[in-house]
Amino acid sequence: MQTVNVSKHSTQYYLDLEEKYSAHNYHPLPVVLSRGKDVFVWDVEDKRYYDFLSGYSAVNQGHCHPAIVKALVEQAQRLTLTSRAFHNDLLGEYSSYITRLFNYDKVLPMNTGVEAVETAIKLARHWGYLVKRINDQQARIIVCEGNFHGRTSGVISFSTDPSAKDNFGPFMPGFIQIPYNDLDTLAAVLKDDSIAGFLVEPIQGEAGVLVPDEGYLRSAYELCKNANVLFIADEIQTGLCRTGRMLACDHEDVHPDILILGKALSGGCLPVSAVLANDEIMLTIKPGEHGSTYGGNPLACKVAIASLEVLQNENLSENASVMGDYFRKKIQELQSPHIEKIRGKGLLNAIIVKHKDKNAAWELCLELKNNGLLAKPTHGDKIRMAPPLTINMEQIDDCIEIIRKSLLILD
Ligand SMILES: Cc1ncc(COP(=O)(O)O)c(C=O)c1O
Repeated sequence: MQTVNVSKHSTQYYLDLEEKYSAHNYHPLPVVLSRGKDVFVWDVEDKRYYDFLSGYSAVNQGHCHPAIVKALVEQAQRLTLTSRAFHNDLLGEYSSYITRLFNYDKVLPMNTGVEAVETAIKLARHWGYLVKRINDQQARIIVCEGNFHGRTSGVISFSTDPSAKDNFGPFMPGFIQIPYNDLDTLAAVLKDDSIAGFLVEPIQGEAGVLVPDEGYLRSAYELCKNANVLFIADEIQTGLCRTGRMLACDHEDVHPDILILGKALSGGCLPVSAVLANDEIMLTIKPGEHGSTYGGNPLACKVAIASLEVLQNENLSENASVMGDYFRKKIQELQSPHIEKIRGKGLLNAIIVKHKDKNAAWELCLELKNNGLLAKPTHGDKIRMAPPLTINMEQIDDCIEIIRKSLLILD
């Protein structure tokens, strides 16, 4: 029998503590979680919820997956960090595993997603100067409007979201913003010889799960190839089975020149990210030119292997595909006047809330919470619906009923 460890204090106690001592850089739902198992999380008052955010798609394998936790605990008792000043007995093993799985020559291990994006930008520029022979200081990267690639000063430099940028300047030059899902503009901009790379999310997650037209990724990749420009896919949110394939780019048989992974690479256990590329690109970086104290640490390597194994052993891409189709169908069948649309692929979905009150999406999330399902609005009227990929049909039915009931609050 599972022992339930209910916290000593009430929800309000934790909310007050956080409000007083923690920076106000997020606006969370008023729920305080203290444990998780598979698709469920429990709050400090032991109320159970379906987790429909999955740590922004970090917990694809389900909370506290036993195989991942076992790898974490065993390795934590053996060796956690060596720094890259010395070798460790797991980096090589992990590198060989992940490069074979994704079919690249090399991996560069990092920690958070945004560090991996920064790494990809540096790699593309380095390749641009050393291989493509772009004039010094001239290399540029094409990015898409509405992008979300993280929060460093470098990465926000090419964000189009005012709340990410306002009063954080000056910004880094060298980026060209074009509309997402617009091949004509991409083709026009690619005529410039100083372009090193095109950085793109296969589906724009933070922007509200914007799925581009079918064929967009394939055509964009081919345009880049013809222009000798690197196609860089940020699959931090879309990758690792979330959209119903191992990578979202797999839907269009695209093999990015630079692939960026993060989030579910550790099943939510610790920050692990990775950049994959072939030697022509990766070996432009020499010792001392890039790195991170924690990047490639043995604990992360062990956990990443276990996380990737779980995705494959449990056929999570197939489950995401089948359950995603089922979920979208069930939402459509609700025929709610308050849902303008549901869009997505696999289990990366968003509903667009239709209501005269601009706080309706937030109110709906509060009601979903009251009824036992946690989700969070993004960009006002959109609510991302992204449960762990282990969810089954019965659980989806249960969630649809919670959503149906909660929508009544908007009547
Ligand atoms: C597509 C994408 N890129 C990059 C990031 C940044 O990852 P991290 O928050 O781990 O730095 C995110 C995080 O949500 C993301 O969704």
